[in-house]
Amino acid sequence: MASHLRLLFILLLSFLLVGNSDLAADKAVLLHLRSSVGGLTRSWTESNRAPCSWDGVLCENTPGRVTEVHLVGKGLSGEIPLNSIGNLTQLRVLRLGRNSLSGSLPWDLGSCTELRDLFLQQNNFSGEIPETLFRLNNLRRLSLAGNKLSGQISTGFNNLKMLRVLNLENNQFTGSIPELKELSELRKFNVSDNRLNGSIPSSLQKFTSDAFLGNSLCGSPLISCLNNGNNLSGGAIAGIVIGSVIGLLLILVILFILWRRYTTGKTQPRVEMSPSPARSSEFEFRGPKPIITRENSGLSNAYSGTARQEAGNVIKNDEMVFVGERVRVFSLEELLRASAEVLGKGTFGTTFRAYLEVGGQVVVKRLKSVCVFEKEFREKLERFGALVHENLVPLRAYYYGREEKILIYDSMPMGSLAALLHGNRGADRTPLTWEVRSSIASGAACGIEFLHSLGHNVSHGNIKSSNILLTDDYTACVSEYGLSQLVLSTHTLNLNGYCAPEVTDSRKVSQKADVYSFGVLVLELLTGKTPTHELSNQEGIDLPRWVQSAVQENRTAHVFDPELLRYQNNEEQMVQLLHLAIYCTSRHPDKRPSMLDVTKQIKEICGSR
Ligand SMILES: *[C@@H]1O[C@H](CO)[C@@H](O)[C@H](O)[C@H]1NC(C)=O
Ligand SMILES: *[C@@H]1O[C@H](CO)[C@@H](O)[C@H](O)[C@H]1NC(C)=O
Ligand SMILES: *[C@@H]1O[C@H](CO)[C@@H](O)[C@H](O)[C@H]1NC(C)=O
Ligand SMILES: *[C@@H]1O[C@H](CO)[C@@H](O)[C@H](O)[C@H]1NC(C)=O
Repeated sequence: MASHLRLLFILLLSFLLVGNSDLAADKAVLLHLRSSVGGLTRSWTESNRAPCSWDGVLCENTPGRVTEVHLVGKGLSGEIPLNSIGNLTQLRVLRLGRNSLSGSLPWDLGSCTELRDLFLQQNNFSGEIPETLFRLNNLRRLSLAGNKLSGQISTGFNNLKMLRVLNLENNQFTGSIPELKELSELRKFNVSDNRLNGSIPSSLQKFTSDAFLGNSLCGSPLISCLNNGNNLSGGAIAGIVIGSVIGLLLILVILFILWRRYTTGKTQPRVEMSPSPARSSEFEFRGPKPIITRENSGLSNAYSGTARQEAGNVIKNDEMVFVGERVRVFSLEELLRASAEVLGKGTFGTTFRAYLEVGGQVVVKRLKSVCVFEKEFREKLERFGALVHENLVPLRAYYYGREEKILIYDSMPMGSLAALLHGNRGADRTPLTWEVRSSIASGAACGIEFLHSLGHNVSHGNIKSSNILLTDDYTACVSEYGLSQLVLSTHTLNLNGYCAPEVTDSRKVSQKADVYSFGVLVLELLTGKTPTHELSNQEGIDLPRWVQSAVQENRTAHVFDPELLRYQNNEEQMVQLLHLAIYCTSRHPDKRPSMLDVTKQIKEICGSR
């Protein structure tokens, strides 16, 4: 009997060993890599633990093989040897950014045919990009930025038809950029700070100029190329010089006239252009403590010089339009005199909180680049203003001027959900209870569902935690609805972690994409973690993917914000809400529920308020 058992055991063991022989090989490869590049790979040891549990190593999807290696900023140095990474043939993700790796890229990287993400930015790699890299048919993201790679940019990139991100900035590439016509999926591209010359090929002209700076390139989106560049005749050069001098003089004269008119026309004391917080503060929302600028550096200072001048004209025929309830509460003049605090710089422009002299506060949003004509703008805003719902931030007024387009909203006392969740994680933090979080999820869902109920083509387009504002009893109100249709965003792709994978143009966001963003928002509420977009180079996590893999590995309990886990008796509801959010973030839009279903289910899970 015992010998039978022993035999069975040996059989089982040998079966396991055979099944794991590839994994054993991968382990040997990783140890080989470790011996060459060192760094903070302390958990990588010979011990009989499978490499899948080592720091930075993942064996997702293909259990018997290493599929991801993440060693960002781990102090690796030296060259990546042959027969190391190249032997990890099931590798899908390789992130080795911010180390001191040097030498040329190993040519056998081309053996990793499953590779999707290759991030090697900010190292010291040099030499040319190996030809074999262009055989990686699954590659979607490639970042080689901040190395010393040289040579021409290869036409071989055209083989990487799936490529969506190509970052080659801060290298030493020379020659001209080839046509990369085959890269139809390319969303993010950067070759800034190389030694490229020649004209920008037409297939890449859709990218903004800051993707090409620091080279000797010409053509759209940079300045156009001169015909036959260097053989300009002396006469032509003289013509250009004389033309420029006359142009400059004209500009000076116009500026002088404008300055005269400005200084004499104004009776009020001049407003000093002191460095206002509008300029110094970065994107982040400031905490609850308001930073109020006094007297002379009020809101008007946040506007450009021309705008102030224009505002001066406008004050005469005050064109501020109050929508909705149509109660004229204050004039534009009063608004410009108000002290202001910068709340944030977002996708669509800068947001201020203005403290009116007559008392009361409003939130002022100054739109960045409006892409619709005046008529459409006014029509749309009249429509937004007419929307009344408990879970929408009410639009109160707008101003449409030649230079400035301003929206005025009610001020929300508790600020944004983003600030509440991620700001002040210190000891004096008031914990966000399950009751508060679930009611925020429910309120936000109702607000979005209301927008969706207005028509099947109505969507919000930019759902994220900084756009969910809270009243003093923590009622969630959705803000910024509809703005994505008015404002031209500089990037066609919105690179925030809430953006559904199928969205290619931030102005065309379907209701199902809203559902995805809402799902990410709920995951953020439950985990307390900030989502980042898979295409952005920011460190962080792709929240839906992270939660899904944790749930698959039965680690559900670990995903929740520790602050939430103090309320054990709601665990079941928390898990249910988590599963609903996972459902909302299905990769395929047709698999996601409608907002109506989502709202109903949240009410069922959390009990209606
Ligand atoms: C990598 O693969 C090659 C060829 O398959 C093999 O000769 C070599 O030993 C492997 N390297 C390691 C470290 O396992
Ligand atoms: C890259 O190499 C240069 C010398 O070639 C060295 O001075 C520099 O510190 C290295 N940079 C990094 C990030 O290792
Ligand atoms: C680009 O620079 C190379 C030298 O690096 C030169 O040979 C070539 O003529 C230049 N091309 C253009 C279009 O200026
Ligand atoms: C490209 O890289 C440069 C240098 O790192 C950076 O300044 C610029 O903003 C980047 N442009 C884009 C479009 O990412």
